[in-house]
Amino acid sequence: MRKTLSVSLLVSACLSMSAQTTYDPKTDELHLRDYAEMMGKYIGVCVPVGSMNIANDNDKYAQKIYTEFNAVVAENEMKMDALQPNQGQFNYGNGDKLVAFAKRHNMKVRGHTLCWHSQVPKWISEDGYQNNKNYTRANLLSILKRHITSVMRHYKGKVAEWDVVNETLDDNQWGVSLSNGKYNLRQSIWVKVIGEDFLDSAFTWAHRIDPDAKLYLNDYGADFYGGSKATAMYNLVKRMKDDGVPIDGVGLQCHLSSGDAVEGIAKNARFYKQKLGIDCIITELELKAGASTSANLSKQAEAYRKILEGFLTNPNAPTMMLWGIDDNHTWIEGDQNPLIFDKNLQPKPAYYSLLEAFHNGYVTDIHQPWAEYSASAAVDDAVYDISGRKVADSLEEFSADGNSGIFIHNHKKFIQR
Ligand code: XIL
Repeated sequence: MRKTLSVSLLVSACLSMSAQTTYDPKTDELHLRDYAEMMGKYIGVCVPVGSMNIANDNDKYAQKIYTEFNAVVAENEMKMDALQPNQGQFNYGNGDKLVAFAKRHNMKVRGHTLCWHSQVPKWISEDGYQNNKNYTRANLLSILKRHITSVMRHYKGKVAEWDVVNETLDDNQWGVSLSNGKYNLRQSIWVKVIGEDFLDSAFTWAHRIDPDAKLYLNDYGADFYGGSKATAMYNLVKRMKDDGVPIDGVGLQCHLSSGDAVEGIAKNARFYKQKLGIDCIITELELKAGASTSANLSKQAEAYRKILEGFLTNPNAPTMMLWGIDDNHTWIEGDQNPLIFDKNLQPKPAYYSLLEAFHNGYVTDIHQPWAEYSASAAVDDAVYDISGRKVADSLEEFSADGNSGIFIHNHKKFIQR
């Protein structure tokens, strides 16, 4: 079992605050999840549950996962073809294994995914597009309803959030704009046979069974603010919100490369916050680096750093998931080395840049997720604790209270002994 953060580690984090210039991520005793937890965030990873021995807490991959991350998602094992391989026959074994692992190590579980055109069982469709079993709209609605309600019921209270629908937008979004509100849907079997309202129904059924679960619409290629698919995604989600569909946010898959203009992700998150007041999270991040040369790895590290910095500044981005643990466990083909641990599970420059970005975010002011702190810190004399909660209205009152620990006053952190 993973130990909870010890006092000595916290002290070492605090001490390094006062001497920021000497910070070296290679000697940091904290892990990614430690920072994430101190900052109220989730950093997670997908787990190939069927082929990894996560039932054994001493397994090196299991250890790496629960040491570095505080959220998990099944890479394939909670998709429709895995959960309902034959009509009416539900197979929850691997999903349950992941839930048990997460519970032992105090991690959040994301559910992926209730409805998709890919990895659909053959009894529904040959390829997720053709209606080769000649289902009617009513047939398919009841199939989808049964799947969603059964799975949501089984995982109620155990899986904190779901990608309710995955990849429902078409790749071609020519002609969409924020002003015309248009979007093109992928012509999957769901859209063709049921119609666009399969989306509204899917979210509504999921919400009815587990009203506490957060519900997301997930997609790829909609990552950067201003891109045509990002615009289509926004238009669709706005339409759903306007119609009262219970949607909590969008998931940006972020299957990207080191050279991409990754600043667009944080911009996208801010836009969702401002316009719709909903979450915008990163669900499947990896960054193709190319061959494992030191130039490629540093470029990759910088891109990971930028993404994390953006993530930390956005209060509506609670979660950032990586799509794989190490370069040996990635769905990306070729010599792309897209993850933060190498093929031998050793930390890459990208790992250290994430750790450093977390550290810097924690000790400086790029991290302001709490409205109370952000809204008033500039104008008042109040003192806040490290998680942004106000502890005193003035320095004077604060000193009189005999507090000790780490606090924030006028945008500066200080240690009160
Ligand atoms: C991928 C898995 O990583 C592979 O093992 C599997 O063969 C195909 O699916 N978008 C998604 C994920 O939403 O579910 C996909 O996962 C990657 C792309």
